[in-house]
Amino acid sequence: MPLPKAELHVHIEGTLEPELALALAARNGVELPYADTEELRKAYQFSDLQSFLHLYYELMAGLRTERDFEELADAYLARAAAQGVRHAEIFFDPQAHLARGVEMGTVVEGLWRALGRSEAAHGVSTQLIMCFLRDESAESAMRTLDAAKPYLDRIVGVGLDSAEVGHPPGKFREVYEAAAALGLRRVAHAGEEGPPAYISEALDVLGAERIDHGLSCMKDPALVERLVRERVPLTVCPLSNVRLRAVDILAQHPLPAMLDAGLLCTVNSDDPAYFGGYVDDNFHAVHETLGLSHERLRELARNSFLASFLEHDEERRAR
Ligand code: ADE
Ligand code: ZN
Repeated sequence: MPLPKAELHVHIEGTLEPELALALAARNGVELPYADTEELRKAYQFSDLQSFLHLYYELMAGLRTERDFEELADAYLARAAAQGVRHAEIFFDPQAHLARGVEMGTVVEGLWRALGRSEAAHGVSTQLIMCFLRDESAESAMRTLDAAKPYLDRIVGVGLDSAEVGHPPGKFREVYEAAAALGLRRVAHAGEEGPPAYISEALDVLGAERIDHGLSCMKDPALVERLVRERVPLTVCPLSNVRLRAVDILAQHPLPAMLDAGLLCTVNSDDPAYFGGYVDDNFHAVHETLGLSHERLRELARNSFLASFLEHDEERRAR
């Protein structure tokens, strides 16, 4: 039985399995340069974040209708439930869809069709976090926030993702302020490939309440001390870090050192259809390869509920 856990770092578009990507593209008459899944799977060799993002944005082209987004989310939730997930805070990337002429309402309502019945169908409670693409402009992010205003009852917070290096968080100060004024929670990817200064900036300038990845904090002892003192949760994604070469091999992943330092780490899947495993596969991998004890795994699962945006009574029920 997998440990009950919350998943706090998963991109719904990153749960698009190759079979579904090709099926959706065929159904919607979208051409992709892959004849079949065998040919497509050969493209799953990444040298860094950017090389992955290329395929990630390319395969999304098949997602066009509410039904497509519903099927995508439903498939993720069924898999997540089988991996012990009781609560999922799910990222989505509206700008990547708006750019293809797919409207915000199609994305949110489509996802919501699956999320709205998830507790009954899968035993998984859900929340949606809308991410801004950091390699797009601040104006584009602000327009995206505006487009989301009719759907704010379905969105718990905002995040920041896509190509990190050269795109420090500070550019998005105003949009994060506007999001906070709308009552939205704030998270941000930082320190996946970027320097520790991006993590500090996400906290200080964006008011991020959680840091997605946060790996590079280990290069800055003063920052580690701060993250421990302020109990800032880090959503670590071990298999992702290996596939995107943030670490050379899993055996060298800093997760054990991060936990030893007292950081509030959680373990997550990021883009499981691309990185060789869903969240419990990540738990297994850190147990097997990094030798994290069962007590450590229970701590990681406990942290996932503590770091979630669930209210405390819900958190207790989930455990
Ligand atoms: N978008 C999807 N996955 C991502 C990741 N690991 N880092 C940044 N942006 C992403
Ligand atoms: Zn991510």
